[in-house]
Amino acid sequence: MDRLKDGFVMDLKSRCSFSQIASKYLELTKKGRNYWARCPFHYEKTPSFTIDEYEGFYHCFGCGESGDLIQFIRKMENLSFMEAVEFLAKMVGVEVEYDKSVDAKAIAEKNREKKEVLKALNDAKEFYKKQIYAKTSVKAQNYLRDRRINRASLENFEIGYSPNFQAVVRSLNELGYDNQTLVNAGIASQKDGKVYDAVAERLIFPIYNNYCEVIGFSGRILDKELDVPKYKNTRQTIVFDKSRAIFGLKQVINAKREQRFNTLILAEGQIDVIMLHQFGFQNAVATQGTALTEQHAMLLKKICDNVLVCYDGDNAGQKATFRALDILQKAGLSIKVITIPNGQDPDEFLKKNGKEAFEKLIENAEELMDYKIRVTAQSFDMSSNDQRTKFLKQAIDLIRDLPSLALADVYVRPIAKYANVSENVVRESLTAQMSTLKKEKKATDEELKQFSENFVDANQKADKIILASMVHKKPYVTYDQTLAFVSTNYQRLYQWLLEKHDSNTEFRISELYDHFDLENDKDIAELINFHFSSSEEKDKQEYLNSLNLNKIRALEVEIKDLETLYKNATDLSKRTELLNKIGNYSRELTRLKTTFIN
Ligand code: GTP
Ligand code: MN
Repeated sequence: MDRLKDGFVMDLKSRCSFSQIASKYLELTKKGRNYWARCPFHYEKTPSFTIDEYEGFYHCFGCGESGDLIQFIRKMENLSFMEAVEFLAKMVGVEVEYDKSVDAKAIAEKNREKKEVLKALNDAKEFYKKQIYAKTSVKAQNYLRDRRINRASLENFEIGYSPNFQAVVRSLNELGYDNQTLVNAGIASQKDGKVYDAVAERLIFPIYNNYCEVIGFSGRILDKELDVPKYKNTRQTIVFDKSRAIFGLKQVINAKREQRFNTLILAEGQIDVIMLHQFGFQNAVATQGTALTEQHAMLLKKICDNVLVCYDGDNAGQKATFRALDILQKAGLSIKVITIPNGQDPDEFLKKNGKEAFEKLIENAEELMDYKIRVTAQSFDMSSNDQRTKFLKQAIDLIRDLPSLALADVYVRPIAKYANVSENVVRESLTAQMSTLKKEKKATDEELKQFSENFVDANQKADKIILASMVHKKPYVTYDQTLAFVSTNYQRLYQWLLEKHDSNTEFRISELYDHFDLENDKDIAELINFHFSSSEEKDKQEYLNSLNLNKIRALEVEIKDLETLYKNATDLSKRTELLNKIGNYSRELTRLKTTFIN
């Protein structure tokens, strides 16, 4: 696979009718200049998915998904970027043009390796899957039966079996893969020049990325042996990174196309996820036996806004659980916690008590803070005065950072109850803690931080409005002054827009997908999805105010620089000149600050 020739994708897209292609997948209705359909990426009854044919992009007002034609094909057909381009080219009968320069070769080489590795992983998955049904795999079949994993789950999760250390290697060699590729893919390990199956003699669970490609495996032993780990995951490769891997990702993405849900169940183990799906909870996922990371949380947030955390109920993991909860919360997810009685895991609980019982657990899931307070209380012996005091301190530490005293006060009652003291005792120590906090320097630091955050927010918002108006070609946009943007992405985008304007070249929004990495540069994607108000007059005023703010910011920086120059200047005429400049700029600044339109 090579790199594409510059401009090829843009060319290709301009030859395609987005709506015509989309109509192969969706039922479209034309309203005004846009096409509407029910969103293919989330369940809905009334259409909120739009295609802007002229600008060449789609956007769903329901789930926020957006992209150009290539993104659309990628998601509908589960393809990589390059495959989607090739798919589309074939569909419209265009020859794909590649870039043959030396620089592109290195990137192409890496892409080629990645593609080869993904292909090998997929073939390995197919091989393992077949083994389950072999006559010689009685042990694996018995194991599945013992754990009551049914046929539907077997197929849904594409569970497989590795019978020995050589079979997968031999089979993939026969398909034409060399050993180096197998090692690169993490399918095989190498020792003393010999290559062997990295998850040999295990039940195999494939792991997928969010494009539903197999990126690795998790292998579980069938016997209780002492000296081997129960699970073994694919090691880090060009495509597999356990700090991003989520088990059940593909199944959840697929389920979400048919069902309405905005909540994920986050369990700990693979078998738990499989059983949850088997019992009808098709929103269950797990991390791959590793501590939850920010990357995991961000991936989850892409799929849903709420998480029901369902970790095994042993107190040993309390610190780790709190940490995971904090990471989820920081990612903007709203969290509840399910506690399964008697230290069981979801797998055991479901088999013993059934679906309705688990639904009850979900119904009774605790709010995050209730959970934290309860678990903290359980680690103290309240009959001891000393322990009780320690608990009170820890409990108040948990709630005193809540945004208001009123919010914190909600938890006074449960804390008092656990500690067996009167509510007033808790309330007094809470208010004392909060007011000392306020008096401390920490509070003013907080305020400063808040202030500067507001400042940054206002500026970011202004930059967003300016660029969104330019991207969407609002009639009131002018290019008659030079602007500066703090974010490098925004500065790059502005330069690009400026070039288009200066060379009098018309552009379409879909071109942004070719020039920027919209999957990673969320700030630019946000501009495409920007929601303008329904009043153009109001939008215009916001735009003008934002321009002002941008100019003010630039002026303030300039004045500061000039002041530094002035302080260091020794030459008298130079000093006078600088002083004049500072005066002029300051007057301009004052003028700008008083011209905000409300
Ligand atoms: P089963 O015994 O198969 O039901 O697994 P479990 O999920 O009940 O086991 P446990 O609670 O011990 O582990 C939870 C998860 O941690 C597993 O699903 C694995 O993802 C992971 N895990 C457990 N043991 C190991 C191990 O030895 N190595 C690795 N890498 N991960 C493990
Ligand atoms: Mn288990």
